[in-house]
Amino acid sequence: MASRLLLVLALWVGCSPCSGREAAPTQPRVRCRASRYPIAVDCSWTLLPTPHSAKPTSFIASYRRGVAAHGESRPCLQLTPEATSCTIPDVQLFSMVPYILNVTAVQPWGSSSSFVPFVPEHIIKPDPPESVRLSPLPGQRLWVQWEPPRSWPFPEIFSLKYWIRYKHHGSARFRQVGPIEATSFTLRAVRPQAKYCIQVAAQDLTDYGEASDWSLPAAASKPLGK
Ligand SMILES: *[C@@H]1O[C@H](CO)[C@@H](O)[C@H](O)[C@H]1NC(C)=O
Repeated sequence: MASRLLLVLALWVGCSPCSGREAAPTQPRVRCRASRYPIAVDCSWTLLPTPHSAKPTSFIASYRRGVAAHGESRPCLQLTPEATSCTIPDVQLFSMVPYILNVTAVQPWGSSSSFVPFVPEHIIKPDPPESVRLSPLPGQRLWVQWEPPRSWPFPEIFSLKYWIRYKHHGSARFRQVGPIEATSFTLRAVRPQAKYCIQVAAQDLTDYGEASDWSLPAAASKPLGK
């Protein structure tokens, strides 16, 4: 008898935020990236659309380190409560104790939380290299130069390595070279009058995380050929 009463209570408590037909928000789908390692980790999220998704939704984002439920919880910094992104400005380097981010969507009739565990080194993904440019060199060679992504704060300390992929117009497949640590590369035996599409990607030198997306294609600094 007592246990049935408890069950009824539990069901009632479980439904109480729903107040009739309104449903609690769906769980936010959260993604965290360290593209400016080691300064910060940036997280963003989306809510699946629901019949009420146009209603005001605010978010509470917090994180703690370690899986212990009572660890100290700190805010993940949001510009406004409605913002769908936040920043963790304190990154412990090379600690294998995971961070746990808790993103809670709050609507008038309920709330819903997602938990994302991560180790900062494992979610490194630099932004693509910038200012990729080409200069023709004598002897059917092309010089490709680029800059590390500006968002990568300390390229001298946390070095990047690079991949280059290229194809000439009309060719179906890219060829890829790398990884190299330099920020320039000479392509040999290029076709004299052909136009080339050349892109560069960056990755943490020590293989943490994943490579960046490919950069924008290179812009030739001079027309090829004479
Ligand atoms: C997640 O955050 C919400 C909002 O601050 C809080 O109510 C909830 O207790 C947190 N969950 C855990 C497991 O820390």
